[in-house]
Amino acid sequence: MACDHFIFLLANIVALHLIIMQAKSAFKFTNLKCLDHDVNFSRFEICRLKVIGRGVITLNIKVALYKTPVTNSTLNIALYKKANGFKPFLYNYTVDLCAFFANRKRYSVVKVLMELFVNNSNINHTCPYNDALMIKDLVFDEDRFQLLPIPEGEYMIKGKVFAYNELKGTTEAMFYRQDSLMP
Ligand SMILES: *[C@@H]1O[C@H](CO)[C@@H](O)[C@H](O)[C@H]1NC(C)=O
Ligand SMILES: *[C@@H]1O[C@H](CO)[C@@H](O)[C@H](O)[C@H]1NC(C)=O
Ligand SMILES: *[C@@H]1O[C@H](CO)[C@@H](O)[C@H](O)[C@H]1NC(C)=O
Ligand SMILES: *[C@@H]1O[C@H](CO)[C@@H](O)[C@H](O)[C@H]1NC(C)=O
Ligand SMILES: *[C@@H]1O[C@H](CO)[C@@H](O)[C@H](O)[C@H]1NC(C)=O
Repeated sequence: MACDHFIFLLANIVALHLIIMQAKSAFKFTNLKCLDHDVNFSRFEICRLKVIGRGVITLNIKVALYKTPVTNSTLNIALYKKANGFKPFLYNYTVDLCAFFANRKRYSVVKVLMELFVNNSNINHTCPYNDALMIKDLVFDEDRFQLLPIPEGEYMIKGKVFAYNELKGTTEAMFYRQDSLMP
């Protein structure tokens, strides 16, 4: 989509400026919520932030699947920014997960959003899904956001997972980005 490419280009330009400016920033998870919508289909077994010291907080999620193989799944991923409550901000994509993992080259912005999570997960493979899905010891840091520049503030990434067009699970990960005052 032309619009996708434009936003992606814009994101790259801004990212380049950030790199040139050598901006240092801190990212930290502040809250995590998981909601089951069909416990016969799947259930969140783990949904927690873990403090691993020195202010570093990791995100951990495990979802058990009861109706395998799962061959049809879509994800709606949207970014919200806090300003009198969380308001939709900049990114909102719905992606066919099976098609995405079969041909990820085609999905520029979605790919950047997905890579925030998939490197620390076992979700990075083509359908079907047969085993519990996990994201383990995920830390948000500056490297991860190089292609996704966002201003200082508090954010929420909301993911709504559907299978066969039915909503099965929702996760909300809250985090903030703060500019470092260090020179
Ligand atoms: C889940 O499965 C149980 C047992 O088979 C059934 O009684 C219940 O109605 C199911 N719930 C939903 C929401 O489908
Ligand atoms: C994202 O877009 C979908 C339609 O594509 C819409 O239903 C949904 O409300 C939007 N969500 C946000 C947070 O803007
Ligand atoms: C996902 O897996 C593919 C091939 O299995 C690999 O090429 C790619 O680098 C992986 N990507 C991430 C983000 O882990
Ligand atoms: C994820 O892993 C892929 C392949 O190893 C790498 O190219 C990519 O930069 C990583 N992304 C993030 C956000 O760490
Ligand atoms: C996924 O399942 C839904 C509901 O059965 C169907 O409408 C949709 O076409 C399926 N998607 C794919 C890619 O097969």
